Amino acid sequence: MAVNLLLGLQWGDEGKGKIVDVLTQNYDIIARFQGGPNAGHTLEFDGIKHVLHTIPSGIFHEKAINLVGNGVVIDPVIFKKELDNLEKYNIDYKSKLLISRKAHLILPTHRILDAASEASKGKAKIGSTLKGIGPTYMDKTGRNGIRIGDLELSDWKDRYRSLADKHEAMIDFYNAKIEYNLKELEEEFFEAIETLKTLTFIDSEEYLFQAQKEGKSILAEGAQGSLLDIDFGTYPFVTSSNTTAAGACTGLGIAPNKIKEVFGIFKAYTTRVGSGPFPTELFDNDGETMARVGHEFGATTGRPRRCGWLDLVALKYAIQVNGVTQLMMMKGDVLSGFETIKICTAYNYNGETITHLPYNIEPQNLEPIYTEMKGWKEDLTQMTEASQLPKEMNDYIAFLEKELETPITIVSVGPDRKQTIKK
Ligand code: GDP
Ligand code: IMO
Ligand code: MG
Repeated sequence: MAVNLLLGLQWGDEGKGKIVDVLTQNYDIIARFQGGPNAGHTLEFDGIKHVLHTIPSGIFHEKAINLVGNGVVIDPVIFKKELDNLEKYNIDYKSKLLISRKAHLILPTHRILDAASEASKGKAKIGSTLKGIGPTYMDKTGRNGIRIGDLELSDWKDRYRSLADKHEAMIDFYNAKIEYNLKELEEEFFEAIETLKTLTFIDSEEYLFQAQKEGKSILAEGAQGSLLDIDFGTYPFVTSSNTTAAGACTGLGIAPNKIKEVFGIFKAYTTRVGSGPFPTELFDNDGETMARVGHEFGATTGRPRRCGWLDLVALKYAIQVNGVTQLMMMKGDVLSGFETIKICTAYNYNGETITHLPYNIEPQNLEPIYTEMKGWKEDLTQMTEASQLPKEMNDYIAFLEKELETPITIVSVGPDRKQTIKK
């Protein structure tokens, strides 16, 4: 049985959590492959909204196994909060939540280092979620990290101490005047580790290999978005992992030739939270309307998301890098009521028209070139069939499919599980 991937094509928050939840009924295993609690994946059903940060978005289903893969970085404190929330809803997570021994731990000092590093950057700050993601991946690639599997060894606390001591010296180096009480943070951390240890740790690549042999179906869940990828995103305003399709191979131990469908999720417009270039960003009433109607506030930090029109140059790039086979368009309902909808189809780059994403997309070099289409007025949120969608929206979808040379197979018209139209 093949493995399918689901990942975001923009700057995150495309609606990955919602769609993974919708698709879980078709899979035996849902596996997160990268990122950490910088992610906020929102699911809505039965009138309740849930936000997951590290736990895969299939956890609310009866049967599916949810695996936190080796490519993920785990903050035990946040993880424990997620588990506490599941308990409130009587979710029996112990039987269906597995953690890779090779996943790395976010330590309290990683979070402080993140804050110190950002503070030292001043205006050039990344706009990080300050969850310790960058410092943890730095320790991973620097070969200093502590992994989930280490918690089963007797000397891990010695390794913890020497790493935390080193971090404290690094924090002092930044001279960022960040106040923290490490003793308190450690108390909370070690308590959360004990909760974590009640879960099942596995050699997840072997588990997934056997699962494939047995014909089990696997959906790999991405976090963040392609334009936040450490290699292909808008560096340095990116996250510290490979959010693109290749990240699922390294983040789970899945061979590239086992991947079948790559589901690429995008919003019918564009949003970005944090710093960095955003060619189609709007600073006018249209942008405000998108933010208001789309409730565009970060699910992890509550920060307002910047909004703008759909950028097909960037979207094409993301489709290519990921090998997307099917597109899923989210939040089409938010565009209801716009007289005209704009779509960026090319850039004016230093006086030249280009249709690829250049190395430098800073606003001083680049201006989006738009195609305009007629908008629609209908409220889409009660629609359940593709045949009910307004003509103008079908025109919008047809235009995108033609430009992107990829079919749009799901259209989402609201945050609830049920507000999902299969085409
Ligand atoms: P993720 O990080 O990709 O999982 O996305 P987030 O959960 O951070 O952000 C997506 C937001 O949009 C959440 O608040 C969802 O509940 C909401 N959402 C998802 N799909 C739709 C949709 O089709 N329409 C509307 N209006 N909201 C949606
Ligand atoms: P989901 O999975 C949107 C952004 C941050 C910042 C940059 C680096 O919910 O789509 P980091 O904390 O990784 O050091 O932040 O990346 N960012 C996200 N933006 N959605 C996310 O995740 C994000 N995770 C990180 O705002 O600009
Ligand atoms: Mg999110």
